[in-house]
Amino acid sequence: MNAEKKQVLVTGGAGFIGSNFVRYLLEKYPTYGVVVLDKLTYAGNLENLADVREKYEPQERYRFVHGDIADAEVVAEAMQDCQFVLNFAAESHVDRSIEEPGQFIQTDVYGTYILLEQARKLKEAGEQGEGSPFERFVQISTDEVYGHVATGSSKEGDPLETRSPYSASKAGGELMAHAYYVTYGLPVIITRGSNNYGPYQYPEKLIPLHITNALEDEPLPVYGDGQQVRDWMHVLDHCSGIDTVMHQGQLGEIYNVGGGGDEYVNLEIVHTILKLAGKPESLIKYVVDRPGHDRRYSLSTEKLQALGWQPQYNLKDGLKQTVEWYTNNREWWEPLKSGEFKEYYRRQYIDRK
Ligand code: NAD
Ligand code: TYD
Repeated sequence: MNAEKKQVLVTGGAGFIGSNFVRYLLEKYPTYGVVVLDKLTYAGNLENLADVREKYEPQERYRFVHGDIADAEVVAEAMQDCQFVLNFAAESHVDRSIEEPGQFIQTDVYGTYILLEQARKLKEAGEQGEGSPFERFVQISTDEVYGHVATGSSKEGDPLETRSPYSASKAGGELMAHAYYVTYGLPVIITRGSNNYGPYQYPEKLIPLHITNALEDEPLPVYGDGQQVRDWMHVLDHCSGIDTVMHQGQLGEIYNVGGGGDEYVNLEIVHTILKLAGKPESLIKYVVDRPGHDRRYSLSTEKLQALGWQPQYNLKDGLKQTVEWYTNNREWWEPLKSGEFKEYYRRQYIDRK
């Protein structure tokens, strides 16, 4: 364990993966402090951090800043004493990017640039002896930048073949981060994670939407033929992968972070959720496919495993635990499925053409 005091800026820390990561980091490194910068979009939720605030705010190890990563002033304030920046903040849902790409470019590309600029200033100040040296900027990216992979598994050197506005925006953000490494010597590392599932996931993506719909006896919408494949990973495996990269990764490098390699088509996942929730298969409803739907993602994680990382969850156990979590935490997700969500759901599923 690293006994040095460090201050870490986690953007998007009130979202699904960010909040799991903040909890993981503060528990694992007792000398670390975290600043969360989050705009609290529809996907951001302070309830995800309620236990973190209660435990770590009195110890002055946790601070929350409400703001936009695209706002240079707020970013300068939040980042001021940090040696690490982990950029989780993003618009993160493919279906919403198809509806409205603009906000994805604004946050995932332009917002990343604003963070990189501020980190560059901190690095330069550290080199002038003003403040402590800036150590690392970790850009949290996605396996979706590789696009559809028909066979085998994507490696870090493979070409980017983005096909949705979401993946194109994420690629834009990580390319800019890499440019800051090459051009300004900013200590950047990039991770490309596969599809996550686990506690605190906003109920719009496949697994939390289908678990919560099953628990409410609502239809489970399956796009197209349901034979698409994702490389599913438990969120805590993603957190440990990012921790490994943050502390041991090589500057300027890219690391895939993926699941254990078991492949399941979407329909198998849907059947498993129904079985775990004790609900009938008649809830499955086939709907019109997503435009430009990537058929298969698969990651090679050899490069990260060479640093000693291993995923701890298999999908069957992880899904069981996740269905239990949503069953036992209805007060967390039920309020989320009202208001803005209901409008989104109507556009996305009821009016689907
Ligand atoms: P999420 O949608 O649950 O959370 C995103 C968070 O970012 C929210 O708290 C939101 O309020 C905040 N945010 C959005 N725009 C912001 C802005 N302009 N300024 C400040 N905060 C802003 O997303 P997630 O699933 O937790 O994903 C986190 C990161 O991991 C994203 O960068 C995503 O691209 C990446 N990723 C996600 C997955 C996945 O399966 N969910 C897989 C690989 C990579
Ligand atoms: P999703 O969770 O949206 O993640 P991503 O598109 O980033 O991979 O979708 C995972 C898979 O599940 C994808 O193939 C689309 C499919 N899907 C459905 O069939 N029905 C749904 O209601 C959703 C949200 C996704």
